[in-house]
Amino acid sequence: MLTLKEAIDVRKSHRNYTGTPLTAEQASELEALVARINEESGLSVKLIQNSPSFFKNSFTGVQGASSYFALIGQKKDIYLLERVGYYGEQIVLSATAMGLGTCWVSVYLSNDNSPCEVADDETLVMVIAVGEVAEEITFDDEFARNRQHRSSRPIGYFYDAIGEVPAWFIEGMEAVAKAPSHQNTQPVKFFYKQDKILAYVDGVPAIQNVDLGIAECHFEVATGKKVFNK
Ligand SMILES: Cc1cc2nc3c(=O)[nH]c(=O)nc-3n(C[C@H](O)[C@H](O)[C@H](O)COP(=O)(O)O)c2cc1C
Repeated sequence: MLTLKEAIDVRKSHRNYTGTPLTAEQASELEALVARINEESGLSVKLIQNSPSFFKNSFTGVQGASSYFALIGQKKDIYLLERVGYYGEQIVLSATAMGLGTCWVSVYLSNDNSPCEVADDETLVMVIAVGEVAEEITFDDEFARNRQHRSSRPIGYFYDAIGEVPAWFIEGMEAVAKAPSHQNTQPVKFFYKQDKILAYVDGVPAIQNVDLGIAECHFEVATGKKVFNK
């Protein structure tokens, strides 16, 4: 099994799955992770298994998956999107380390047509498909990959700094450059001065705040330094 740091290097979005159910061992490892995350974060993440209809009946860009994580949280949480990004990416990296494919999926479902139960004071923010990756790559998959797979922007694109930056900061930024983001927009920037770090996205709170939490997760896994503090 890979470390989470190694998982950052091999992770990419997979949009084609065999539909093979998770093994009992995989499921129990992922359930334990979900329990730990829910306890720590206050989110209500659910692992939904053997439920291919969600991906069959909705246009998500993902095919053949039968399991996914429903990332659910409190409507009143003002940091909900960032929190979902931060903890969701821990799930993505852990599943990647286990050899499973993943893909973040934006859902925009109302609580009424959610594929799983959501309490009145909660909302389903996002879904992460998980499962065995299908070998065969369809034309649609190639199109999505060609259009959306992250480009390798120079590291300097992702941060501003006052003064010299240490090697660990650069290592963190390399991990941030490999983070998934909505439509590969890579909107997250970091700021560094004298060992103080700030991560931000410009503009009003929107889906980019999920990207923010994801980038913070990558930075922390690579450097061991805390950035997410909500
Ligand atoms: C918040 C978020 C939402 C996403 N939504 C979708 C989606 O609905 N469908 C999809 O095929 N990919 C989705 N993606 C995957 C991105 O397109 C992908 O991460 C990006 O293109 C970079 O490619 P990579 O993950 O292979 O590095 C999403 C990613 C994020 C972070």
